[in-house]
Amino acid sequence: MENLEKFKVAIIGAGRWGFNHVRTANSILDPKNITVFDSRPEIEEKISELNSEINFTTNFNDVLDDKSIKAVIIATPAETHFEIAKKCMESGKNALVEKPITLLSKEAEDLHKLSIKLNLKLMVGHVLLYHPAILRIKEGLKQGEIGILQYIYSNRLNLGAIRSEENILWSFAPHDISVIQFFIDENPISIKACGSDILQDGIEDTTITYLDYPGKVSAHIFVSWLHPFKEQRLIVTGDKGMYVFEDSAKTEKLKLYEKGFKKVNGNYEKFDNQYKVIEFENKMPLTEEQLHFYESIINDTQPRTDGKHAFEVLQVLNKATESLRS
Ligand SMILES: NC(=O)c1ccc[n+]([C@@H]2O[C@H](COP(=O)([O-])OP(=O)(O)OC[C@H]3O[C@@H](n4cnc5c(N)ncnc54)[C@H](O)[C@@H]3O)[C@@H](O)[C@H]2O)c1
Repeated sequence: MENLEKFKVAIIGAGRWGFNHVRTANSILDPKNITVFDSRPEIEEKISELNSEINFTTNFNDVLDDKSIKAVIIATPAETHFEIAKKCMESGKNALVEKPITLLSKEAEDLHKLSIKLNLKLMVGHVLLYHPAILRIKEGLKQGEIGILQYIYSNRLNLGAIRSEENILWSFAPHDISVIQFFIDENPISIKACGSDILQDGIEDTTITYLDYPGKVSAHIFVSWLHPFKEQRLIVTGDKGMYVFEDSAKTEKLKLYEKGFKKVNGNYEKFDNQYKVIEFENKMPLTEEQLHFYESIINDTQPRTDGKHAFEVLQVLNKATESLRS
């Protein structure tokens, strides 16, 4: 992309996930134009092992005061996102904030409004919306490849890593909610959730969330970190066929099944044909996400996962949490 040679970014928080952002930025940008800010000084060694030309600081002001840094990627724990993003935007920086954008809907709304007021890009790291398979399904839905959309379900299951600052819903489900919202392009009219806190009191290890959307489209999300193996399976059902996307599978990740029921002379008849494998471009979602962020700043375009999308996903998370607690 044009202008990327001079593009400067600061990555705030280079822990488990943030380091992936640093690695990705290192593959896209000039390392001298990357600054990493983390409050833990020991992170510096890991960064310089990756590329000694990347700048490192433990002082937030080094980022805020550098007017040549127009973009920040915030990958600190969720409870710090609001304050850090607000300060960065008030210093004139466009922000890509990791999921969940904030903990409270009000904070997400405030950041969204601030980005509009200051004419800055605000984007949330819902990385699946940059996955070529998800974009392929969206395209197929638009073209009516599976007919009328009926039901979506998503399983995101694994053994660990357990978090104590948030439950499984907040840890895993933002991805599934963002994908479902992207496919349906509406907000749910009803949300019900239930779950079990097995390992730590009050922190659910497993949850199931049911979502009803306008037009008789429904969805459910099953997430757990107490599951014997990794399973990331998304099923999108229409009246003419079904997509199955298994990101955890080694091959044949995206399939289209021509299966279902059709009404013949008042009775339902099953159709049960073979599946076909759908090929999609082999692109790294996180690279696509960062490129999309940089492009939106350079070309002044609206990011796919903008502040409005982030706010809507957060509202679903908050309503699901209310339902869990009741
Ligand atoms: N998009 C994804 O698929 C994905 C995957 C995993 C995590 N995440 C998100 O990324 C974020 C970080 O998660 P993680 O697992 O990397 O956490 P982590 O605890 O491993 O890393 C957080 C880093 O931030 C630093 N930090 C904390 N507070 C700071 C502050 N005030 N200023 C500067 N640095 C600070 C810590 O020192 C640490 O290095 C979370 O919001 C998480 O939900 C996203």
